[in-house]
Amino acid sequence: MGPCDLRNIRQDLPYKEDPRVLAGAYYSDDAGIFRLNETTTLVQTVDFFPPMVNDPYDFGMIAAANALSDVYAMGGVPVTALNLVGFPSDLDAGILRDILRGGFDKATEAGAVILGGHTVVDKEIKYGLSVTGILPDKAFTPNSGARAGELLILTKPLGIGIITTAIKRDFAPVEVEKEAIFHMSRLNKNSSAVMMEFGAGAATDITGFGLMGHARNLAEGSGVSIRFYADKVPVIPGTRELLEKGAYPGGSKRNRQYADEAVFWHDSTDEQTRMIMTDAQTSGGLLICISPEKAEGLRQKLRETGETYSEIIGEVIPRGDTLLETE
Ligand code: CO
Ligand code: CO
Repeated sequence: MGPCDLRNIRQDLPYKEDPRVLAGAYYSDDAGIFRLNETTTLVQTVDFFPPMVNDPYDFGMIAAANALSDVYAMGGVPVTALNLVGFPSDLDAGILRDILRGGFDKATEAGAVILGGHTVVDKEIKYGLSVTGILPDKAFTPNSGARAGELLILTKPLGIGIITTAIKRDFAPVEVEKEAIFHMSRLNKNSSAVMMEFGAGAATDITGFGLMGHARNLAEGSGVSIRFYADKVPVIPGTRELLEKGAYPGGSKRNRQYADEAVFWHDSTDEQTRMIMTDAQTSGGLLICISPEKAEGLRQKLRETGETYSEIIGEVIPRGDTLLETE
């Protein structure tokens, strides 16, 4: 579903105020934050979707990494998870075993325990996790925490939606496919730990709504605008070539339309870059807001610890005429 439809539906739903809810879907945030008692604050989220890669084990890893990511985007630590499965009755059960093995391995890497799950018969495969995490200290990184003057760091390169579309149509080069799978299945665990160590105040992960869609939520939630250095945005090598061959998913087209309402695109931001900045990601990186004094240190630490594409890609500015702009 497109970002716009979802927003309209959400507006029609009842919402119950509760002082224990510190962040939640009402703010279109990544995960809900719930203060259970004096000592424990929960982070909860759920995510599942159909396969975007061919190998069932890879898909399991990616779906789990993607679901765990919303906990990491809040600065939380995953503790438990439950499998959510849709599976066709006429498919080989070995496929499901491989998917679940991929999910198990990623949950284990995250330090989370899979307690169980639920499976329904479905026309197409779907897999994901519901995840419960905790906040180790009281700090967390909501969508509403961006402050003017801060810089923005993106921890993974863009291009996933374009590449997975090319994979589905069978024209993605093997090395490009491999790199996309590497990034999609990489946990945001380290990014999250490092940003909390540096005292980041806000973050979001980049998934289905693309960089601009998630940045828009961040800007709206925080009452600020965001300026992007479009030429600094990291992109998986090979993405532009696949874009030229026509690989652009429907979800990204909807994102682009939705973003265009909120973005002032500078003339120097070429059409391809605009498409990449609105491309729907699966298990993308974190977009982290950090004070300018700490930004370069954070970028370096991220790079040294494995987030090799980490880049300062923009800045938070006072609320202007448009929520987002490029330069
Ligand atoms: Co998210
Ligand atoms: Co999500």
